[in-house]
Amino acid sequence: MIRYIEDPEERQKIARGILEALTDWFEVEESREKYIKESADQPFWAAVEGDVPAGFLCLKETGKETMELAVMGVLKDYHRRGLGRRLFAAAKDYAAREGYLFIQVKTVRSGMYEDYDITNEFYKSLGFKELEVLEDYWDEANPCQIYVMSLKSAIGTISTRHCYRGRFSSDPVPREDLITIASAGIDAPSGCNKQTTDLVIVDDAELLGKIKGLIDPPVAQTASAMIVVLTRRINAYRDKCFAVQDYSAAIENMLLTIVELGYQSCWYEGHITDDDRICDKIAAVLGIPEEYDVVCILPVGKALDDFHAPSKRSFGERVRFNGFG
Ligand SMILES: Cc1cc2nc3c(=O)[nH]c(=O)nc-3n(C[C@H](O)[C@H](O)[C@H](O)COP(=O)(O)O)c2cc1C
Repeated sequence: MIRYIEDPEERQKIARGILEALTDWFEVEESREKYIKESADQPFWAAVEGDVPAGFLCLKETGKETMELAVMGVLKDYHRRGLGRRLFAAAKDYAAREGYLFIQVKTVRSGMYEDYDITNEFYKSLGFKELEVLEDYWDEANPCQIYVMSLKSAIGTISTRHCYRGRFSSDPVPREDLITIASAGIDAPSGCNKQTTDLVIVDDAELLGKIKGLIDPPVAQTASAMIVVLTRRINAYRDKCFAVQDYSAAIENMLLTIVELGYQSCWYEGHITDDDRICDKIAAVLGIPEEYDVVCILPVGKALDDFHAPSKRSFGERVRFNGFG
């Protein structure tokens, strides 16, 4: 389980326990003590197995738009269980949500020591890219490899996007951002290019208030804008209708763009298309023609609350190479 640790003393205690057990990587006492001391004031996550802290990671701001993965360690007995990956996912989500554009990390360049070669491979497998090697940053025997990752690349955004169901800031969402989001939606692929998805952007406070009043149980009540997704059940060919696939692709494009622009959202479809047909009531308020169905609403706004990635089945459980075996 990955836990965000608030208490500075607990942070230092966990960092000490782990770093002192990892002397292959953190051999020099002076720098180990520096990491421990600094960890007190840094965003800090622990991987807790049972009651035991088995790993930790902390971040440090190195520029207005850049976070550094300041230090991370996982006890050797817990290696190869995905803890480092989960710690990093939590930290990356946090940095992206806080509006940072890059994460960097420094390590000893590949080809020097076996343990560090493994570290390099691990960072690359997370998606870090080589930025520069600074030969003299530490000393000649330890050339410093700097890796960097953009938090705004499509790949970065895909892994940090999650459905947000918390409160939104009351700030209006600028029209230009809403247009960027909706444009991403209509840029999505569609079966036989039938373009069966249309959108209605709602940012008028009074109208938005009417729509929110229809949503029972209430969701998205604090959003200052909403995108209503419409579909037309047009056949792509013969009796094949790809309208569901079309609007799903459009929704995902919009969710990614929303996150990329620093906002949050949630795919609300089940909630409005159930037996109480909130979708039809929304359609009536917006004057949607009969041949369209309202299928989804996407609130848009800046998140005020923290949220966590839901747990998902692991890569190995869901993805196979060259057959199912
Ligand atoms: C077709 C579809 C319908 C959904 N409907 C709802 C919904 O009505 N209410 C809701 O809170 N989330 C809804 N979701 C969001 C899922 O619950 C969410 O994507 C899933 O739990 C995975 O979490 P993540 O998006 O945070 O990765 C829907 C997602 C899809 C793809």
